Amino acid sequence: EEKFLRFHGLLVPKETHDLESLKFALNFAFKDNDVVAVTYPKSGTIWMQEILPLLLNKGDLTPLQTIPNWDRVPWLEEKRLALIEDQLPTPRAMVTHFPYHLMPPSLHTSKAKVIYVMRNPKDVLVSSYYFHQMAAFLQDPGTFDEFLTTFLEGKVLFGKWTDHVKSWRHTDLGDRIMFITYEEMVQDLPAALRRLSEFLGCNLSDQVIQKIAEHCSFKMMKKNPMSNFSLVPSQYMDSSKSPFLRKGVAGDWKNHFSSEQLVKFSSVIKKELENEYSSLPWSL
Ligand code: A3P
Repeated sequence: EEKFLRFHGLLVPKETHDLESLKFALNFAFKDNDVVAVTYPKSGTIWMQEILPLLLNKGDLTPLQTIPNWDRVPWLEEKRLALIEDQLPTPRAMVTHFPYHLMPPSLHTSKAKVIYVMRNPKDVLVSSYYFHQMAAFLQDPGTFDEFLTTFLEGKVLFGKWTDHVKSWRHTDLGDRIMFITYEEMVQDLPAALRRLSEFLGCNLSDQVIQKIAEHCSFKMMKKNPMSNFSLVPSQYMDSSKSPFLRKGVAGDWKNHFSSEQLVKFSSVIKKELENEYSSLPWSL
């Protein structure tokens, strides 16, 4: 636990967050044309960091060729934001792992738009397991079986998956929030981009959508140093243990879960989600 700070009951990594950055996030001034993508960790955050500037700038590739993902679309709650806030181009795009109740008051008073990205929690767990092996600022995950318990207990960054999802399901944001799944993006990225573009009012031609889809493919992102975290020194993130852009598929959980683990996982998630369970896009 010494790698984490405890903040409103949530564990957050000390390496990237401190009380000052968290307070900065709590008081952040959202502007009307801001866009924030909300994710539980390992649900498609850097994918949105790639996608949003391209949608907002009609496919202009300059940002993703010259600016690392963390400066292109910064995390609301991380230390970096205060340093670069003034340099962000308008409209600004950000990401956050915050639950709904920690979002700053300005989210409610502004017209900022929110995109909530959700991923099958079984794949989130698998992705997180490998991420814990490569990221020195997180605890050693132990065996997959041990990590499954840690994950279900919420003793991981940003707490329980079920709490995060539930907090964002019923907001008072009305048509300012859009829900999308990682699986939808894997299955048909151009269609997902069209839906995002419509929500953001970007008005993009099919040609531009195709171009964006190409540049946001797993293959392209994996070889782009501005997107694949290879600029981060290996003492913080060791890609030789597991690359950040690891597999990029839906359903890798099938290669990791035993039938006992599946029963345990599903029963906990089902119980904690209560009525929300039946409206999930996947069966668990
Ligand atoms: P895997 O570990 O399953 O490969 P986050 O950015 O929220 O930490 O999520 C990381 C996960 O998103 C990783 O999942 C990563 O490979 C996947 N991802 C990132 N970009 C992607 C893309 N263009 N296509 C598919 N998956 C992508």
